[in-house]
Formats: sequence, C-alpha cells, structure tokens
Amino acid sequence: MRTITSDRLRLRPWRDDDADFLLDLESRWEVVRFLGARPTTMSTRADALASIARRRAVDHPIHGIWAMTTATEGRLVGNLLLKPIPVSAGETRAEPDDIEIGWHLHPDAWGHGYATEAARAVLDDALSRGVPRVLAVTAPGNHASQAVCRRLGMTHLGRTTRYYDTSNELFEKLPR
Ligand SMILES: CC(C)(COP(=O)(O)OP(=O)(O)OC[C@H]1O[C@@H](n2cnc3c(N)ncnc32)[C@H](O)[C@@H]1OP(=O)(O)O)[C@@H](O)C(=O)NCCC(=O)NCCS
Repeated sequence: MRTITSDRLRLRPWRDDDADFLLDLESRWEVVRFLGARPTTMSTRADALASIARRRAVDHPIHGIWAMTTATEGRLVGNLLLKPIPVSAGETRAEPDDIEIGWHLHPDAWGHGYATEAARAVLDDALSRGVPRVLAVTAPGNHASQAVCRRLGMTHLGRTTRYYDTSNELFEKLPR
C-alpha cells in the first residue's frame, strides 16, 4: 500500500503499534453508529490487532485502507479506505467492480476538514489512475458524512439498498 500525502495529512499503512488508537476509535458508539446494517463497537486489543492485519493485507496498486495521521507530528487521527463495495444479498443492479471511499475519524479530530482533505487526495489519485468511478454510501441520518461527500463534489444519486444489506444515501464521483 502506498503512502499518500496532502498539505496537513499523511495516509500510511496501519501498524501493530496503532492498536490502542484503533481500539479507542472503534470502541466509540459515535464513530461506528452509522456503519452497516448492524453497527458494533470494538471491545478488545486483540480485535484491533486482527483488524489491522486485515487492513494491511490489502494488496492493490490503487486501493487501500490507510491510517490517517497529521503530516508534521504523525499523530493518528483516523482511517481512510478505498476498496470494492460489498453488494447486498440478492442484489442484481450493482456493478460488481464498483469501489467505495470511506472515512472514520476520531472525534477529537472532527471539525478540521481532515476527512475531506484526505479523501480528496485519494480520489484525485484513483481517478487520475483510470478508476472509472468512485462511490460513497452513508446512512440516511449521517449528515456529517454526506457533507464530506458534497465538499468533495460527489453527486448524490439518491437512496439505495444495493450495498451493505441496508438503506444508504449513494454518492458518485467521476473523473473530471
Ligand atoms: C464523517 C466524519 C468523518 C466527518 O468529519 P468532519 O470533521 O465533520 O468532516 P471534515 O473533515 O470534512 O471537516 C469539516 C468540518 O471541519 C471544519 N473545518 C475547520 N477547518 C477546516 C479546514 N481547514 N478545511 C475544511 N474544513 C474545515 C468545517 O467547517 C466543517 O465543520 P462543520 O461541519 O461544523 O461545518 C466524522 O463525523 C466521523 O468520523 N464520523 C464517524 C464515522 C462515520 O460515520 N463515517 C462515515 C461513514 S459513511
């Protein structure tokens, strides 16, 4: 997985010594409450280490699941992902090759424009390398995440049940 940088941020592979941060992040209901059909908080450091191993296992020239840190101090602030999007069971309308972008920040790092800045860097990178479109899905009540999509210039395509076995607002970004 490559490292991607922006003005204030650095996206790098997750490391085992990030486990305490990841557990702190994903044990918070306010961070996971909008994720998937049955959101669950993380409860053990072992779970965090297992999750880090899965994140690091992404082996692709464009996709990734990155730890997001500040560029100068290397302080962990969250997670940024670009990967194939899970299609709902029995769904036939979804394109099998569609990929999604997603963001999960520690509440201490909300309100600084970090999610938008990091996602913009990853979107620019992916679209410039020939990815035909990038999707984002957000729970209907997740207005903060929908605002990120809008700041990124993503187009709102309406509500759909095509992904993650649940109802989501769907956003799309195409190459310029
Ligand atoms: C979704 C989530 C990442 C949004 O975080 P966020 O901090 O609101 O989003 P951004 O990083 O784009 O920051 C925008 C905010 O920073 C402010 N900001 C401050 N300095 C800024 C700067 N230099 N540049 C841009 N925005 C700045 C903006 O005004 C905006 O604040 P506002 O919403 O009060 O108007 C965050 O709520 C989160 O992690 N939620 C839990 C996980 C989750 O639900 N993920 C999405 C699943 S679909």
